Amino acid sequence: MKKTVTTSVEETKKLARDIASEFKGGEVVALVGDLGAGKTTFTQGITEYFKIREHVSSPTFALINEYKITKTQNQKTKKALKKIIHIDCYRLDSPEELVEIGIEDYFRRDDVAILIEWAEKVKCILPKQTLWIRFEHNENEKENERIVSINA
Ligand SMILES: Nc1ncnc2c1ncn2[C@@H]1O[C@H](COP(=O)(O)OP(=O)(O)OP(=O)(O)O)[C@@H](O)[C@H]1O
Ligand SMILES: [Mg+2]
Repeated sequence: MKKTVTTSVEETKKLARDIASEFKGGEVVALVGDLGAGKTTFTQGITEYFKIREHVSSPTFALINEYKITKTQNQKTKKALKKIIHIDCYRLDSPEELVEIGIEDYFRRDDVAILIEWAEKVKCILPKQTLWIRFEHNENEKENERIVSINA
């Protein structure tokens, strides 16, 4: 497990961009942490890395948002990865709701990377290789500090 303390939104996004640079396609990233902990901010760092211009917010009502990686960006990275899928389980009543919309098909694809907020609610359906990232407010209560634990 790797722990990092970030002290600003930009630092959390930078951490996400570094992780995104390792993506090849087929990644499932589970984001865990309270309201306002930084899950969406982290996702914005991921989409920034792939030069996605759309505004990224929690898909609380949509449940799932898809962001296309541009052709130019795709040619640069020469990767299978073509889309970022952003899911928010906050309002989900059961993991079956995700299964019903065909989430397991996405898990088998190597042209998408999937980020899931409130992923602990659907843990039982996530693949073994899921990368778990936990966001916590620091105990010293400094407003802009977050402890980010990777594979926790
Ligand atoms: N170091 C930091 N990293 C990330 N966000 C930070 C940091 N410091 C302060 N913030 C603030 O914390 C908030 C994080 O909000 P964000 O939407 O990313 O949380 P979330 O975990 O997605 O919450 P929700 O469960 O409501 O979707 C933002 O208002 C951001 O400005
Ligand atoms: Mg969010």
